[in-house]
Amino acid sequence: MSTTLAPAASKLALLGGTAVGEVTYSKFPHFSERALARVTEVLRAGKAIGLGRFHSPEIEEAELTISRYHGGREVLACSSGHAALQGALAGLEICCGDEVITTPYTWGASISCILHQNAIPVFVDVEADTGVIDPEKIEAAITPRTKAILAVHIFGQPANLKRLRAIADKHKLCLIEDGSQAHGAEIDGLRVGNVGDAAGFSCMGGKVLPTTEAGYLVTPRKDVFWKAAMIGQHMGRSPEKDFPAELLPWVDSLVYTYRVTPLNAVLLTEQFGVIDGWVAERRRHAALFREQLAGAQFLRLPDYAPGVKPVYHLLTMNFDSEAAGVSRNTFAAALKAEGMLAFGYVPAPIPDWARLHWQGYSGPRVSWLAALEKAGVDYRGLALPNCRHRVANSIETRFDFIDDRADMVMRMAEVVHKVEANIGALRDYERSHGPVATAKR
Ligand SMILES: Cc1ncc(COP(=O)(O)O)c(C=O)c1O
Repeated sequence: MSTTLAPAASKLALLGGTAVGEVTYSKFPHFSERALARVTEVLRAGKAIGLGRFHSPEIEEAELTISRYHGGREVLACSSGHAALQGALAGLEICCGDEVITTPYTWGASISCILHQNAIPVFVDVEADTGVIDPEKIEAAITPRTKAILAVHIFGQPANLKRLRAIADKHKLCLIEDGSQAHGAEIDGLRVGNVGDAAGFSCMGGKVLPTTEAGYLVTPRKDVFWKAAMIGQHMGRSPEKDFPAELLPWVDSLVYTYRVTPLNAVLLTEQFGVIDGWVAERRRHAALFREQLAGAQFLRLPDYAPGVKPVYHLLTMNFDSEAAGVSRNTFAAALKAEGMLAFGYVPAPIPDWARLHWQGYSGPRVSWLAALEKAGVDYRGLALPNCRHRVANSIETRFDFIDDRADMVMRMAEVVHKVEANIGALRDYERSHGPVATAKR
């Protein structure tokens, strides 16, 4: 049982003192010797192309492995998380002016998959403590054009899936999950990806389940699987085994190239063999950090209900700028100077981003502006108070602790306590220098 650290009051590194020391991580992404050997074998055999599960035993193995992880649902391995998400929308036939209610607080690809379908994102606010979509804000945003809710399990924290499912069912909407940051997260006994009509996951090298660049789609519906495959794979001249007869007339090569490679298929299979242990390690380290932060005044982890089991892709923290008397950016800069990564992950609410504003847009042409203009949406200055508060006040840090790094968690806690113990000096610094401009990574 570890004890809480005493505050260290030595001079802040930002003010010329000695840093606590760099926080280092497990080697990540990690690939086992077996995974590396299998990748080499695939390369040696010249299996450069994977045209889907019926052509590639590696892809079939990966999709079966992931399907077992997701309770037997249909799985389509893809080239990226974006590909999987766009496949989800296409598979559900959401496009062409359909409205999708979603979150303003995420990585842009959660939204560009909607835009690339010429569908219309409708942004509703998030929960203040965690930044996941607030189910209570959804019903007021539903119109006759609404077709789906797209929820993102941001930073590995599961959105309220029971409530989202109930709202979707009540209004006959599809529920789409973006689990790109949350492989293995659970809420009320439900694993993310297993509740939506479709879910997309990213498996790029920085994710909880890393490959090089890959992703996968999960759906309980065979028709969604096949329609997603149709837009993302060159299905060849001969239809695949089990391909639905009613879709046959529509198979051609007018596709996005969203297929997975056999190399990444092998990595997917191998990583799913070890993910449970990695998730357990992330949770163990997060519990230790929470315990160590218990005495902190200005920085705290979100509170989770007992049924919520995040996976800590990134760790998000809530900073109380008012109580601290310094801006988030200055506080984050002080943490960074001591050796801990500290940044604001979402730079601005997504509806504020210029490439969504067809009114007066002057940048390089983008394909979705015509659909947004036709729909007459105006994203400029939406209220979204909780989203704005998080954008300005949360602090994120990397959390790739997949083997024993308790010493690094203790170091992170030491950094936080040191900065808090020096809050007066930090206030003086901010008064004389002005707030630090950004909290970029
Ligand atoms: C929440 C979220 N959605 C979608 C994506 C897109 O995934 P990919 O980069 O694999 O296309 C990412 C990845 O960065 C993400 O974090």
